[in-house]
Amino acid sequence: MVIDELKAVIRDIPDFPKPGIVFKDITPVLQNQELCTAIVEEFVDRLNGLEIDAIAGVESRGFLFGMMLANKLNIPFIPIRKQGKLPSKTIGESYKLEYGQATIEMHEDAFTAGSRILIHDDLLATGGTVVAASKLIEKLEGVVVGYAFVISLDFLQSLGRLTRFSDNIIALAR
Ligand code: PRP
Ligand code: ADE
Repeated sequence: MVIDELKAVIRDIPDFPKPGIVFKDITPVLQNQELCTAIVEEFVDRLNGLEIDAIAGVESRGFLFGMMLANKLNIPFIPIRKQGKLPSKTIGESYKLEYGQATIEMHEDAFTAGSRILIHDDLLATGGTVVAASKLIEKLEGVVVGYAFVISLDFLQSLGRLTRFSDNIIALAR
């Protein structure tokens, strides 16, 4: 039920930010507080009691549901940010996007070695962002225990890029 409503509310914007890209706009989802709550509850259900020490979310849209989910699970949230934004010592990874290139960074002291981290982002496209996030977590000897996305663009066939880190992949709208 929540999935049908979610799919109905996500707005397709053709040719943004570049010709040929159909942008999945989640701002109408954010206007619907009941739907946001239902999304977080759906993630919790699908995690099915998985042991997780922290949620890592990628700037900026990965912060929205990432922090809500961490809060619901009573665990810390780790912000992974675009280059030059985090104030303390960082490690970084560069990657390609469906429509560009970027570098993400995480604080070196974001978690302790051996921590079990769930990576969250609003949307999976090529997988470049969350592969880079996974590499950051492994560099600090964290364990990627899974992924949670609001949307997966399955036509880009990127799920296979993630399974070398974890095959525990939740994607609500696909
Ligand atoms: C978008 C989206 C994901 C990423 C997915 O972020 O929020 O993080 O692209 O693409 P990928 O699977 O091809 O890596 P974007 O970099 O546009 O930044 P934003 O969240 O600040 O809008
Ligand atoms: N990030 C990468 N590709 C995207 C798309 N098609 N819509 C929204 N965010 C994206």
